[in-house]
Amino acid sequence: MLQRAVYTLLVGCAVVFAAPTDTVASISDATISKVKANAVKISTHSWEIGTALEALTELEWPSLSVFGGSLPPPVKLSSGTASDVIQWATKIVKAKNPDSLPLIDGDGAVGDPASIGTAVLLTNWTRTDRSDHEFSTAAGHQLTYLLDKAPRTSDGAISHRSEQVQLWADFVYMAPPFIAYFGALKGGSGGLSLLKIAYQQCKLYRKYLRDSSGLWKHIVLGSWQDNHHWGTGNAWAAAGMMRVLETIHHSKLASQMQSEQNDLKSWINEIVSASWKHQHTNGTLFNYIDESSSFADSSSTALLAATTYRLASLTGDTSHISAANKAYSLIKSSIDSNGWLRNTVDPETFNTPSKAGSHSPEGQSFVLLLQSAYRDYKAKQ
Ligand SMILES: *[C@@H]1O[C@H](CO)[C@@H](O)[C@H](O)[C@H]1NC(C)=O
Ligand SMILES: *[C@@H]1O[C@H](CO)[C@@H](O)[C@H](O)[C@H]1NC(C)=O
Repeated sequence: MLQRAVYTLLVGCAVVFAAPTDTVASISDATISKVKANAVKISTHSWEIGTALEALTELEWPSLSVFGGSLPPPVKLSSGTASDVIQWATKIVKAKNPDSLPLIDGDGAVGDPASIGTAVLLTNWTRTDRSDHEFSTAAGHQLTYLLDKAPRTSDGAISHRSEQVQLWADFVYMAPPFIAYFGALKGGSGGLSLLKIAYQQCKLYRKYLRDSSGLWKHIVLGSWQDNHHWGTGNAWAAAGMMRVLETIHHSKLASQMQSEQNDLKSWINEIVSASWKHQHTNGTLFNYIDESSSFADSSSTALLAATTYRLASLTGDTSHISAANKAYSLIKSSIDSNGWLRNTVDPETFNTPSKAGSHSPEGQSFVLLLQSAYRDYKAKQ
């Protein structure tokens, strides 16, 4: 009896003492709604809107995201479902210049406007007026632009810029997830070939941007380069491949693309593993991940942690969860009382911190993506 009591006590203590390394306190719902309102308010560029739309979908309508359920999504949504996402996508399509193929002005970027395409496809799929083909046409034009008009390298990588062939890691979050989602909704052999194109673009971008450490350069080819291992660039690449992987995984064509899914898992893991090697004691990554003269950047830390939770949810491999938990705690303590993420990189210079009083639109969305990934990971434990 006594022995058993002592044993129970010891086991009890072990649990109490072990817990802190494995659990982190969640960011509150009240904080998340402030972060969300700010993300929506300050996202104006094409890629910021696309990222915010994805973040709203994952956070509020998880069963409609590519992480949530089987694809295609249901045709009929109950009233109010995804209304914020659908209204924003509708506003963009209604304002679209009918003579332009891309969904919105992309500031010279090929990939960025396509980031909005996923929400446009969802809007088309679930629309109540079945005779309205405007969304389908707009999404189709965006795809045509990417596949038939945009410049490419000789081996087929679609340029991230329209005026010259230049590859940016950012592209991987902007275009391949849209191409893959288009394919998953289309289905059949046409859908399969789009899923394969999305995969192929990830493969080509990795071929050009990956260094032997596993980290990716930011920008190659064209008239100037950024050969640094930009935190946000690595996060865009890993998170973009994660969405392509989940789109394939939840599509009806998954069984025909087993080796492609294995490749994507290993390419995401390659970035995640190489990044956390450079994590600082307080949980942050630096803006140029592997350069000690760089500075702490909460944006890339948030999106790489989100991707780490997503990958672990899919594969069951928890090797990097303690790094993600540390990063999550750092992000939690980096959100101010008004719901702004502090200590971000200025997303337009890539190499300076955000100026005092200014905020990162994409950084705001990354917090929402992190919260969604953390929530879904916890729910599986
Ligand atoms: C738009 O939705 C319809 C179903 O109402 C579907 O047949 C069509 O393929 C969709 N368009 C795109 C581009 O996914
Ligand atoms: C975290 O640590 C890094 C490196 O020591 C430091 O530059 C940064 O300011 C720290 N961040 C916070 C929020 O304390």
